[in-house]
Amino acid sequence: MDRRKFLSSLSAASAATIAGAATLTQKADALEEAMDEALNKRRAKPKACYVDGRPARDPNDDRPYLQHYDPLLPEMPKAPQLVDFYNLRFSPQHVLQSARLAKSEGFNEKIITACLLHDIGLNLMNTDHGYWCAQMIAPYVDEEISWAIEKHQALRFFADKDYDYEYPQAYISMFGADYKPEPYIEHAYKEARKHKWYETSRLITVNDLYSFDRDLTVEIDDFVDIMGRNFKQPKEGLGFDGSPVAHMWRTLIWPNNRL
Ligand SMILES: [Fe+2]
Ligand SMILES: [Fe+2]
Repeated sequence: MDRRKFLSSLSAASAATIAGAATLTQKADALEEAMDEALNKRRAKPKACYVDGRPARDPNDDRPYLQHYDPLLPEMPKAPQLVDFYNLRFSPQHVLQSARLAKSEGFNEKIITACLLHDIGLNLMNTDHGYWCAQMIAPYVDEEISWAIEKHQALRFFADKDYDYEYPQAYISMFGADYKPEPYIEHAYKEARKHKWYETSRLITVNDLYSFDRDLTVEIDDFVDIMGRNFKQPKEGLGFDGSPVAHMWRTLIWPNNRL
């Protein structure tokens, strides 16, 4: 980094904070904060995040855009395996707790794997996360698992007394008491209801509800064996196997690449 250029590009507030710091340590902290601020400005965001258009580029800032590894994120191995994403990219406690619940209830490995994977699409996209997740994993798992994960997107909104599944109270506070799912969700639910794999998807929602315990930490190591038997890990690493979904995994590896 060109030090003189960096210092002259600081906002007046950051420059004043650094200049006014009483001790060397405080100065170093203020400088580090300013560098983080400068780095964040250079980090790309999905275009959808800019409802008013992308902010104009600072004409005095001619540094290259960030590509490949983001210094604020841990570096991934060259041929990353699924477990590396749990350790280095995902916020995995919810899915781990969900898989733990399914395991303790004695469900088979297909159900446990479905629970373990069911929300990893949220690390890529909130909207329609079940659909995103199903696509991400489809080349590597049994079709029943990806089907069930796609359908959990819709099933969450519909109660089923046979499985003691009620409409989640949390959704009332999150979406309002009047919230009604879109017709495409209702249609997907009705189709799934008639399907031979309905139970697999329904069990994802059953093991989903009670898996938000902030005081519980579940380790991924407890599921590495099940993962190995139920997820076909490509030898080139996820993101580099040339599959139709490799770009999704690369997006998780380098989430702030400019283009
Ligand atoms: Fe979900
Ligand atoms: Fe979930």
